[in-house]
Amino acid sequence: MDLTLSVVGCGYLGATHAACMSSLGYTVVGVDTDPEKVAQLQSGSLPFYEPGLETLLAQEVKSGRLSFTTDFAAVAKTDVHFVCVGTPQSKDGLAADLTYVKSAVAAIAPYLKKGSLVVGKSTVPVGTAQSLRGELVKIAPQSDLAWNPEFLREGFAIKDTLTPNRLVVGVANDLAEETLKKVYKPILDLGTPWIRADLPTSELVKVAANSFLATKISFINAMAEVCEAAGGDVTVLAQAIGYDPRIGNKFLQAGIGFGGGCLPKDIRAFMARAEELGAKQALEFLREIDAINLRARLRVIDVVRDELSKELTGYKIAVLGATFKPDSDDVRDSPALDIAAQLNAAGSHVVVHDPKGIEPARKRFPNLEYAESINDAVKGSDLVLHLTEWKEYRQIDPNEIAALVKNKVIIDGRNMLDRDLWRKAGWKFRALGRTD
Ligand code: UGA
Repeated sequence: MDLTLSVVGCGYLGATHAACMSSLGYTVVGVDTDPEKVAQLQSGSLPFYEPGLETLLAQEVKSGRLSFTTDFAAVAKTDVHFVCVGTPQSKDGLAADLTYVKSAVAAIAPYLKKGSLVVGKSTVPVGTAQSLRGELVKIAPQSDLAWNPEFLREGFAIKDTLTPNRLVVGVANDLAEETLKKVYKPILDLGTPWIRADLPTSELVKVAANSFLATKISFINAMAEVCEAAGGDVTVLAQAIGYDPRIGNKFLQAGIGFGGGCLPKDIRAFMARAEELGAKQALEFLREIDAINLRARLRVIDVVRDELSKELTGYKIAVLGATFKPDSDDVRDSPALDIAAQLNAAGSHVVVHDPKGIEPARKRFPNLEYAESINDAVKGSDLVLHLTEWKEYRQIDPNEIAALVKNKVIIDGRNMLDRDLWRKAGWKFRALGRTD
């Protein structure tokens, strides 16, 4: 591989990208301002959980192709620079905070060698790439900037990086496209679709994709609300409409809705940007998507009240799941943890279990009680809530834990448990969007 790469920002996206690119045979240097993170990554250990990634990282560091540093001057030796820093929701509104992206590009600009290509991967409001490119060429006139949105899902990060369902590049000229085609050749050779777009379209593709996914989830959760009102069953409804290939059966899992570091903040930032562009009305529907999503969290609390009492003080509630989805330790905007915290604030004694997310959850909500085992979590509980669909929870034997709880009542917030199995074991089983 004659090209060498740098990855600026070594959080979830950056660490994954760096390890995967190294596994393709590239020499990669990861740069991050956090010395602790850099030291940890350099020792081959991951600061977060992602299936298979720690093994890959350790293997690549050991191979000598992958290294990490806090020194931005390290990018001087490399040809292509992937910017993978975060763009969180700003503290004072819906818009994305671009501080890290801007400072990352500014930090590497003085070191860029002739012909360098800076490639943004962070999710940014449309227009950001063009303006960053303008700034960059002022400092480093013989370099260029492209955008290459990332579509990886947590829990499937390696697979989605090395065998993505498409590669999208936003470029201002043929040379930038050629460079990126060279970088991604091993992936393109697998037959991966390649989409060349202009800079603004590439930024829009990313937020449009996440908005569509969020819309699909909120659509099915809206149907769940109607099913509850009409005496229907949303799981049957989802299955039935999903057979239509124009609709498809993915992302129609009704429950407590979406969370995480991407979908919620991306739809909000998209609305904020559309308003700045004078296209507010076009994305008004996303406000409703957001509202339906947040309402799902309240609806599950309503079911809890319905089962226990209006006043929630004095009950012991076991919460199974803290992360925003299974196979991740990410608790950012996690619906499960939000519900647990709300029940706790309402006066219940909430005990949370999660296979991977207890430590990050404890950092965010130190007031909640955490249990290391499912049995400890459910012991003496008045009600069990299933809020993140970890495989472990589908393997629970309802007969076994029946002996531990005070009341055999379970609410499935993800519509993933086997209702008949739980009922056979004598449990009262309730779920969102199912009246039976
Ligand atoms: C999402 C997108 O799926 C990725 O394509 C994108 O690259 C990523 O954001 C990003 O922007 O970086 P991720 O945040 O890992 O990926 O999570 P998803 O798998 O999309 O799930 C998001 C949330 O929706 C989870 O809380 C999940 O429980 C919920 N969900 C998902 C449902 O409630 N129902 C469903 O049918 C599917």
